[in-house]
Amino acid sequence: MLQAMRIDDSAGTLYEHYVNAQWVRLLDVLQMNASYVRCNGAELHTADGRTILDFNSGYCVHNIGHNHPRVIAALKDELDKAGPAMLQSHLPDLAGKLAARLCELAGGRLSKVFFACSGSEGIEAAIKFARAHTGRPGILCASGGFHGLTCGALSLMSNAFWKEGFGMLLPNTEFISYGDTEELERKLATKSFAAFVLEPIQGEGGVLVPPPGYLAKVQALCRRYGTLFVLDEVQTGLYRTGPFLAAHHFAIEPDMVVLAKALSGGLVPCSAVLMSDAVCVSVYSSLKRALIHTSTFGENSLAMRAGLTTLEVLEDERLGERATRAGEHLRRALVERLAKYEMISEIRGLGLLNAIEFKAPRSFKFRVPFETFAKIHPAIFGQILVMRMFRDHGILNQVCGNDFMVLKISPPLMISDTQLDRFVSAVEQVVDFMHTSGSFWSEALGIAQRVIRSI
Ligand SMILES: Cc1ncc(COP(=O)(O)O)c(C=O)c1O
Repeated sequence: MLQAMRIDDSAGTLYEHYVNAQWVRLLDVLQMNASYVRCNGAELHTADGRTILDFNSGYCVHNIGHNHPRVIAALKDELDKAGPAMLQSHLPDLAGKLAARLCELAGGRLSKVFFACSGSEGIEAAIKFARAHTGRPGILCASGGFHGLTCGALSLMSNAFWKEGFGMLLPNTEFISYGDTEELERKLATKSFAAFVLEPIQGEGGVLVPPPGYLAKVQALCRRYGTLFVLDEVQTGLYRTGPFLAAHHFAIEPDMVVLAKALSGGLVPCSAVLMSDAVCVSVYSSLKRALIHTSTFGENSLAMRAGLTTLEVLEDERLGERATRAGEHLRRALVERLAKYEMISEIRGLGLLNAIEFKAPRSFKFRVPFETFAKIHPAIFGQILVMRMFRDHGILNQVCGNDFMVLKISPPLMISDTQLDRFVSAVEQVVDFMHTSGSFWSEALGIAQRVIRSI
């Protein structure tokens, strides 16, 4: 009985009690359980008066910055209109407008759009559409990718960690190495795959930029064997890497592209599956099948209005060009300041999707603690890095979900040079500290012990 429970009504306590206690514990262990009261642009303001710089952007949601005033105004206006919402019995004109604009920006074969509410839901649709179009059961994917945590999307992820305990997933899904076209051709030649689904730049896999010519070769092989070429641009789309789609770097024309995250301006859930006419016609093939694949909230007016306004902001503020210039500036500065340290393996990325890859230390003094942490949990080293950036320098980062040795750098695209420079100085100080101070490692040991106690 509710009244019998004595629960503190502060948000954190209710969250812990009713939503996810383990997430609260993890944030506490990492000393990252901040209470945010206001977020604007790249700045997150906390209840205790700190200003944190966001270098994660909610995993590439906040391309236009937090709470953009134009998106907020558009949403208020839309609410004030009190127009039709989710009738499921009419044609939402804003969905038509947003679809037309997305197709114009994407170009190539992409001339139809299905709207949904999350990246995973977009991937689910892409799986169904590819099967409907080709009549084939199989989906081929690149190892190390991240496509979402619903059952279909999860089936397209090779990392066993995400799947453990959830039972049987989709059959007929197979993995090949990202970047390997020989293996790809052997698989495609079986003509059993409806689609090859991959991120053009693997985000959570470690911000892996494809080798030259790889995606063009993938496309040619997919066409040769009748497999649809499907790009998951949930993180890379919406000007994150410079152009509207990362595909535009590589002069390719995929059959489907999934967009989500930044499409909503960070305020309303929204995803879109862009596809060729041919794919759309295969799915919605007759009057009887007019509603064969739908999603109740998919074309809702707030999401559509947020999407349209977000595209306007991205274009008016020329955030793609900004991402290109800022990314070059950032990578140059990081190489200058970090390349000399033995634990730095590589600095890489495109636009404002970047990463610093670390490697195990050679020197005995640091190798012993490093290997100890790796044995306790492979994520500890990366989490200490993230924690220090947050606690000591007020910068929010994350390590990649499928490669814990890679620090991901994905700030809002409107980030200023001064804010980028603040990040570079902070990361230099943390990296220097880990190479010179025993206390980096002794504190890490303390955290490792707390993690062990919490497992
Ligand atoms: C590349 C990629 N695809 C798909 C998804 C799933 O998106 P969502 O969490 O909106 O379902 C994610 C989420 O992080 C992603 O990074």
